[in-house]
Amino acid sequence: MATNGQKEEGLGQEFTKQVIDSFGPKTDPRLREIMASFTQHIHDFIRETQLTTDEWMTAVKMINWSGQMSNEKRNEGQLMCDIIGIESLVDDITHRKLAKEGHTGTNSAILGPFWRADTPWRENGTTITFDTPKDAQVSFLYGQITDSHTGKPIPNASVELWQASTNGLYEQQDDKQVEHNLRGKFRTDAEGRYSCYCIRPTPYPVPNDGPSGQILEMLDRHPYRPAHIHFMVIAEGYQTLVTQIFDSGSDYVDNDSVFAVKDGLTVDFVPRKGDPQADWQLEYNISIGPA
Ligand code: BEZ
Ligand code: FE
Repeated sequence: MATNGQKEEGLGQEFTKQVIDSFGPKTDPRLREIMASFTQHIHDFIRETQLTTDEWMTAVKMINWSGQMSNEKRNEGQLMCDIIGIESLVDDITHRKLAKEGHTGTNSAILGPFWRADTPWRENGTTITFDTPKDAQVSFLYGQITDSHTGKPIPNASVELWQASTNGLYEQQDDKQVEHNLRGKFRTDAEGRYSCYCIRPTPYPVPNDGPSGQILEMLDRHPYRPAHIHFMVIAEGYQTLVTQIFDSGSDYVDNDSVFAVKDGLTVDFVPRKGDPQADWQLEYNISIGPA
């Protein structure tokens, strides 16, 4: 935008207005708002940086490459958004909007590209770690789901967990892991409690063999995420919570490659005594607000 009072050269604001005004009357109002703003910002960005045809084509090729790499097991488009903070920003705006409407509770965090819609149900107190690698440390994870307004426990809630193995791979990325390894859905009991055995998470790099990896490299950035476990909590009559917990002692807690670490989500695993099945334990209680 010409902010110094000088007349813009070339295709300026009149051109941008022409593009926005091309949207027809049947356009959904929210879509019109989003696309008008997007067009305005991206035109201003192109004018500001004086983007060349070659530079624009480089971006087009990366977007195409990301589509070609994506399938039901890999979401490169989402990953490209993640490494420039888009998913975290959208998550934060969504969470703050809910908070303003009175929905307090445990902080949210990004879903990420490795959630699966067909995760199996498991019994409380059972394990999500199968073929546990030698370098893994088994942990007992337990907690209570409560109503953020009343503090009362929420029975019958679904608590879904997923995590990467110690080789840094989720089971769908790794032929050597059994299907649905390190993921499970648990139904809270009458006191709103859930529990399972999992592994103490370890840091891992986001997939860096595609355009996202190339962008990270070009920007002189590392691909690592701090050690974390993903949660999705669903209960009838409540807001669904998607979040992650981060091991406070992990590398990269202060510089997550996808910028997902938020207040209240760092946790401390403690040694577990008298349980031959686990070296560590973690109590993580979650509160969710009414829908
Ligand atoms: C993850 O935590 O699984 C993840 C999140 C964003 C990008 C890549 C991986
Ligand atoms: Fe993850």
